[in-house]
Amino acid sequence: MKAREVLTHFMAIAQAAAAMMAVMGQGSGGGGGGIPTTLDGPFDPVTRRFDPSLRLGSDDLPMDNPRLKKNVTSSFPEQISLALSADPSSMWVSWVTGDAQIGKNVTPLDPSSVASEVWYGTGSGKYASQQDGKSTVYSQLYPFDGLLNYSSGIIHHVRLEGLEPGTTYYFKCGDSSVPTMSDEYSFKTMPSPSPNAYPSRIAVIGDLGLTSNSSTTINHVIKNDPALVLMVGDLTYANQYLTTGGQGASCFSCSFPNAPIRETYQPRWDGWGRFMEPLASRVPMMVIEGNHEIEPQVDGITFQSYLTRFAVPSEESRSNSSFYYSFNAGGAHFIMLGAYVDYNVTGTQYSWLMDDLHRVNRSLTPWVVAAWHPPWYNSYNSHYQEFECMRQEMEALLYQYKVDIVFNGHVHAYERMNRVYNYTLDPCGPVYITVGDGGNIEKVDVDFADDPGKCPKPDDNKPEFGGLCHLNFTSGPAKGNFCWSKQPEWSAYRESSFGHGILEVVNSTCALWTWHRNQDAYKEDKPGDQIFIVRQPELCSPTAKETSDPPQGARESEPASPSSTVILSSKMMWLMSLLVALFGIVVR
Ligand SMILES: [Fe+2]
Repeated sequence: MKAREVLTHFMAIAQAAAAMMAVMGQGSGGGGGGIPTTLDGPFDPVTRRFDPSLRLGSDDLPMDNPRLKKNVTSSFPEQISLALSADPSSMWVSWVTGDAQIGKNVTPLDPSSVASEVWYGTGSGKYASQQDGKSTVYSQLYPFDGLLNYSSGIIHHVRLEGLEPGTTYYFKCGDSSVPTMSDEYSFKTMPSPSPNAYPSRIAVIGDLGLTSNSSTTINHVIKNDPALVLMVGDLTYANQYLTTGGQGASCFSCSFPNAPIRETYQPRWDGWGRFMEPLASRVPMMVIEGNHEIEPQVDGITFQSYLTRFAVPSEESRSNSSFYYSFNAGGAHFIMLGAYVDYNVTGTQYSWLMDDLHRVNRSLTPWVVAAWHPPWYNSYNSHYQEFECMRQEMEALLYQYKVDIVFNGHVHAYERMNRVYNYTLDPCGPVYITVGDGGNIEKVDVDFADDPGKCPKPDDNKPEFGGLCHLNFTSGPAKGNFCWSKQPEWSAYRESSFGHGILEVVNSTCALWTWHRNQDAYKEDKPGDQIFIVRQPELCSPTAKETSDPPQGARESEPASPSSTVILSSKMMWLMSLLVALFGIVVR
C-alpha cells in the first residue's frame, strides 16, 4: 500500500473511530463498546447453529385472527400504509375500501365509486392541505376446478406533495362526500439529502408471511421504533395457501402434481395489510418483490397483487417500473432491484441502474444501499448459487460504484458476509446481509452447503426467473469445487433463527447494524449480531473513469486477485486511530 493510501485509510479510521466514540459515548477501545467494525475484518467465519429448544416452524395465523380480521365497515379505509417518494417533500398514502370477493363468480368493484382524498397538516386535527389521488382494483382468476377467483377491494394511492423534510404530519384519508374519513394518523418525513442527517433507525425484514413468528417479528420491530422499513420480498405467502392447508410446501409440484397452476388465496393479502397497518400507517414501508409475489394466474398474468397494492417511487426515480426503483432517505440512497424481471446487461433495468448510480451525488448521499430478494452470497444449502446469473450480470456495476451495503432475503435464516467482490475478499466490496428470517410458514433453514452430504447438485436450486449459471470456484480453498468443505471465508457470521435487522447510520462513514433474533425479545437479552459498518471513501470511491465509463459486459470468469485485498491489519489501524485521538489530531 502506498503512503498516500495509508494516510487516507488512516484518516477514514480516525473519522469512524470518532463517530463510534460519539455514538457509544465512550472510548473506542477496538470498537465502540466492544462492537466490532468492518475495519476489523475480514473475520474468521462463525456459525451459530439452530437452538434445538426452539421450533423450526411457525403456526399459521388464520383469517379470523384479530390482527387479520376486517374491523371497519365496508366503505371505511383500512390497510392504511405509507411509502416514501423519491425525496422528503412527498409521501405516498395508500388504503383499501370496499369488500373483496372470493368465489367462482366475482364482479370487480367500480374504482370511481369512491374518492381518494387525504387531508393533512402539521397540527393534530388541523388539515391545511388536501390531495386527491387515484384508485384501482385487480382480479386474480383461476378458471380451473377447485381454485377460487378473487376481486379486490378498491385500492387507493395518493401522493402528498410540498412536504417539509424532517417534519411530523397528521392526516386522515377516505371519501369526505360519503363521509367515510379514517381516524387521524401521523408520520414524519425523512431528512433532506445530506451527509449529516439520516433516519434514526431503518428496519430490514425479509420473508415475513403471516404466522406466529411473523407476529413476534413485527412486535419486535415496533418495539425497536424504526423511522423507515425495508421489506426485501416474499411478503404474505398467499400463494399455495388453500391447497397446502395454510402450511406451505417447499415443492408444490411434488405435493400437487395435478394442480394446473399454483393457486393463491388473495384474502391473505388483505389480512396482511391489516396485520401491517399498526406499523405501516405511521412508518413508510418500502417493498420489493420476491418469488412469492409472482402469483401467476390466467393468461400468464403475474404480480397483480404486488403491482396494484403498493405505491413505490418508480416514476419519481425514473425507472417507471414498480419492479425496481430508488429513493433517498437523508444521506442514504436506496436502490431496490428486481430479481424476477430482466436483470441482464442488455435490459432496461440494467440501463436504469447504471443511470441511477451515475446520478448519485455521494457528497449529498454518501451511503448507497441496495436491496433485492434472492442473495448472491449464501452458504446455506437452501437456494445455494440460485441467482448466480444475476450476480454475474450486475455485480461489477455495483462494485464499480462502491455500493456500501446489500440486503437480501429468500433464505430463511441470517447471514452476514465479509466485504466481498466476485467471491474474493475485498475491502471495497459491499457488506452483504441476508435477513430472510421474518417468520414465514416454511420453517428456518438450518443446513449449510458445506455440511457433509448437504452440497446441492448444480441444478437442484432452480430460480423462478432466469437461468442457471453455477460455477465451480476457480481459486482459494474451494478451487475446482461447487461447494466449500467448510464455512466459506466470505461468510462472516451465520445463524439459523427468525429475526429482523436495524440499521442506524451515524454519519457519512459509520453505521451500526444490529440483527435481532425473535427469541431475544424474551429469551436472550442481547443482539444476535452487531457490527459497525465503516465506509472508506478515500480508499473506495468510484473513480472519475468508473463513473463516466460504466461496465458494458459484466460477466466474469476469474475472481479478482486476492493480493488486491491486502490492507493494514485492523489492530494496527486501531492503534493508529488511538494515537490520533491521544495527540489531538483532528481529521475533517
Ligand atoms: Fe423467496
